[in-house]
Amino acid sequence: MTSPVRLALLGCGTVGSDVVRLLHEQSADLAARIGAPLEIAGIAVRRLGRDRGDLPVDPALFTTDPLGLIKRDDVDVVVEVVGGIEPARTWLVEALRAGKSVVTANKALLAEDGATLHDAAAEGGADLYYEASVAGAIPLLRPLRESLHGDRINRVTGIVNGTTNFILSAMDATGAGFAEALEEATELGYAEADPTADVEGFDAAAKAAILASLAFHTRVTAADVHREGITEVTAADVASAKAMGCTIKLLCIAARGADAAGRETVSVRVHPAMIPLTHPLASVGDAFNAVFVEAEAAGQLMFYGRGAGGAPTASAVLGDVVAVARNRLAGVHAASESAYADLPVRPMGEALTRYHISLDVADRPGVLEAVAGVFARHEVSIATVRQGPAGGGPDAELVIVTHVAPDAALAATVGELRGLDIVRSVTSVLRVEGGA
Ligand code: NDP
Ligand code: HSE
Repeated sequence: MTSPVRLALLGCGTVGSDVVRLLHEQSADLAARIGAPLEIAGIAVRRLGRDRGDLPVDPALFTTDPLGLIKRDDVDVVVEVVGGIEPARTWLVEALRAGKSVVTANKALLAEDGATLHDAAAEGGADLYYEASVAGAIPLLRPLRESLHGDRINRVTGIVNGTTNFILSAMDATGAGFAEALEEATELGYAEADPTADVEGFDAAAKAAILASLAFHTRVTAADVHREGITEVTAADVASAKAMGCTIKLLCIAARGADAAGRETVSVRVHPAMIPLTHPLASVGDAFNAVFVEAEAAGQLMFYGRGAGGAPTASAVLGDVVAVARNRLAGVHAASESAYADLPVRPMGEALTRYHISLDVADRPGVLEAVAGVFARHEVSIATVRQGPAGGGPDAELVIVTHVAPDAALAATVGELRGLDIVRSVTSVLRVEGGA
């Protein structure tokens, strides 16, 4: 058999330690698939003294000098499972420029500055693979960047954050509020001690940027993504959704569109939204991820599975390691970044959405007319109106669902409604997706 392909593993935490385990357990199969054995040349970590349990690896391989490890002549491939922007960017640029292929799970870096990594890969003639960065174990990026390259993708709608999906699923199942469901997610180990990146939508926004870049052959960064988290979703919102035959999910939506001049654009957003129970994403519960892709010729495709966790994420990392190792032995490289379309990213105000709005209003003549007038002034067409008693008091509850309209018009409508004296309060505003 040919000489080994030698890996520098940067990071040995949740994902890295499972990469080590799987490399050990499957070494014979991996060697047979690649045509050469994989060997770990070194493992860079932050704390040499950390207890790493019974990890099947020589302790002498650990180092706190990632850059020194990357630069070693006996390193062929760099696997980065540390995370964050710096120093990870410096390490990966160094590796790629030196012609060493990189496998990374670092969604934050790819979404913030993927361009620098792709440029470095092109400069060094190296592969850059990052399947694990979006939706963990689910084979999704390879289908987008290879299998669907003969097609035209129009829209990608996904549940790409397991923590928030667990919380929203729990709220839906038990009627709990956000804080209670977050507490449960933390106790069960789904939510991190600091859940900000998940519940405020930063994690999903990074993944949305990566998906949009691949789907639309356009460089999209996290800064281009409109982001709203789930902290404002209430038990009343969830109940309202149920009454409409819907459920609430944190969605990432990347879609083609056109601006006023008819030029093609993309819009990329992450926010909670009601979707009908009949939508394929509605039944995605617990901490699972799923991504629904709509393409011109292929039609609708659904990708589903575990989006996080050590072993599922390590599975995606190892799939990439096998690919880059085989490329290396064959003396070839994967196709480079495809960003030729360079479509402008549309501001959120121009995104076409629908709203579900619940209002607590005075129950007297003319109220419905006044409320409807606000929608008409902003050219927002009402699809349905439902009126019922509001919490046993003298007021009424109005639940209005709109037709599709620009998000800015919908936001302005809600703003004006809040200012009306007949509107006691706007109790819930949620976008509606998926044809309910
Ligand atoms: P962890 O925090 O569990 O592990 C991080 C590892 O990086 C640790 O081994 C740590 O060392 C090491 N490290 C941190 N800083 C440095 C540094 N300056 N120099 C050298 N080593 C350093 O992270 P995860 O394994 O959870 O995540 C890794 C990557 O995978 C991230 O990009 C994350 O977004 C991504 N990812 C994670 C998923 C998951 O389910 N966890 C899912 C999908 C992607 P030490 O062990 O000494 O502390
Ligand atoms: N925190 C992320 C999630 C991990 O909850 O899905 C995977 O990126």
